[in-house]
Amino acid sequence: MLENNKPGWWRRAVAYQIYPRSFQDTTGSGTGDLPGVISRLDYLQKLGIGLIWLSPVFASPQVDNGYDVSDYRAVDPMYGSLEDLERLFAEAKKRGIGIMLDLVLNHSSDKHPWFLQAKQSRDNPYHDYYVWRDGAEGKLPNDMRAAFGGPAWEWVPELGQYYFHQFAPQQPDLNWENPKLRRELYDMILWWMDKGAAGFRLDVIDVIAKEPDRKITGNGPRLDEFLRELSAEAFQKGCVVTVGEAWGADVERAKRYSAPDGSELSMVFQFEQMMLDQTGGEKWDLAPLPFIKMKKSYAHWQQGLHGCGWNSLFLNNHDLPRIVSRWGDDGKYRVQSAKLFATMLHGMQGTPYDHQGEELGMTNIRLPIGDYRDVELLNYYREAIEAGKDEADVIASIYAKGRDNARTPMQWTAGENAGFTTGTPWIKVNPNYKEINAESQVDDEDSVFSYYRCLIALRKELDVLVEGDFTLLEPEHEKLFVYKRAYKNAEVLVVCNFGGEETKWELPAEWKNARTLIANYPGAFPEKLRPWEARMLCREA
Ligand code: GLC
Repeated sequence: MLENNKPGWWRRAVAYQIYPRSFQDTTGSGTGDLPGVISRLDYLQKLGIGLIWLSPVFASPQVDNGYDVSDYRAVDPMYGSLEDLERLFAEAKKRGIGIMLDLVLNHSSDKHPWFLQAKQSRDNPYHDYYVWRDGAEGKLPNDMRAAFGGPAWEWVPELGQYYFHQFAPQQPDLNWENPKLRRELYDMILWWMDKGAAGFRLDVIDVIAKEPDRKITGNGPRLDEFLRELSAEAFQKGCVVTVGEAWGADVERAKRYSAPDGSELSMVFQFEQMMLDQTGGEKWDLAPLPFIKMKKSYAHWQQGLHGCGWNSLFLNNHDLPRIVSRWGDDGKYRVQSAKLFATMLHGMQGTPYDHQGEELGMTNIRLPIGDYRDVELLNYYREAIEAGKDEADVIASIYAKGRDNARTPMQWTAGENAGFTTGTPWIKVNPNYKEINAESQVDDEDSVFSYYRCLIALRKELDVLVEGDFTLLEPEHEKLFVYKRAYKNAEVLVVCNFGGEETKWELPAEWKNARTLIANYPGAFPEKLRPWEARMLCREA
């Protein structure tokens, strides 16, 4: 069991993201809940994870599935009560698992009491908790756009002012320039630390230091200053792990965000690799994955942060399509490709994050447009159709990139609604649940689940996986992703054959007698790697 009271305790842990809405329902409401999470802790303990990133369970009108918070200190009744959350902290702790809460500090819900006050008058004490600009109706302060479509400014006629929102209009941006607002947030975090939170995931943290007059959102001039204050005033008062979501991070910035002295955060989610298969930064564009670029990008991050920062490692989350469908094969080679991605990721340095169902090889879904639920996806559909885009192209983008792909209910059993709920699920269950479910995998040695379990165990066992440096081999190879990790006298070699074809490759002589740690095909290292074959070897140098 991991002891989560020593600095850096989380470096050996594997984290697991729970999207509570879709994890396990215990009331028949069709929506997952906290007692549901508690009921599945034994499953997670069996998997071997040390941390749970719990997507927001705070009181919320649910415009953006809880990323619009109306009370940072209350649990949404849909998920249960504060007592349920405290019970989750305690029950998880018994199993050596820490709970990371998901803090949405860039914006609140427009139903948050602060915002309701702020809207009352310009001299209300809460007015300055948000970002306002004078203007005239119909004459926006500038042409900035919101991430979920439409302008970033919303008119409040009573005040004759616009407020700024980077996401939906129901998610007004908080004004980090205001020290009183910052203090409120720190006190709230300390309150959760006192209740037993082991860590925090910080939603879109790199856009808090916005300066709309200069059209700055990400990486604002005061960002590091704000992060250092947040860390000193809140996180450093305990022994918590923190991960910031930072779409705009590059290696140099990430070194500061994840500096080993803990002056800012433990690590960040960066999205460089995840954005390679889109052109011009446009999420809905469908471009092929530039494989060689992807390998070099991983190498750049692995080497860039080695010894002076810390990576988070992930291929999935609640905002991204399922990796087997995205870069792998969710048909014939689903199992092999799911295991390949797991090998590639868990062999690197950093903290791996497994998004619920990834350990089963869950796939994307295709739904009629009326069955989708995500605000971003539905806004995109409306705007694209209005703009005259071809509907078939729009639907193809939604199938490939829509966030609901990762939000369908967890597939527990082959029974009704995949064992997720006895009611009507809030979003359709993926029809492949009869084939892909936890029940059929937990005790099957060859399952994707067992493979993840083995990888997670290896990370606890082998120092080289935690501490080792990273060398990219075969950088120009079009099919193989091969890398080496080294620490003291131990070396690990990871070999992944991307794609459904065989690839001939000669294992270097010094590896001929190496021990196989894990592989997704039985037997010895072959002359030709088979479709989606992945192997991890270990030797004493
Ligand atoms: C983050 C969350 C996403 C949410 C957005 C606005 O990107 O992961 O789900 O919609 O922030 O809070």
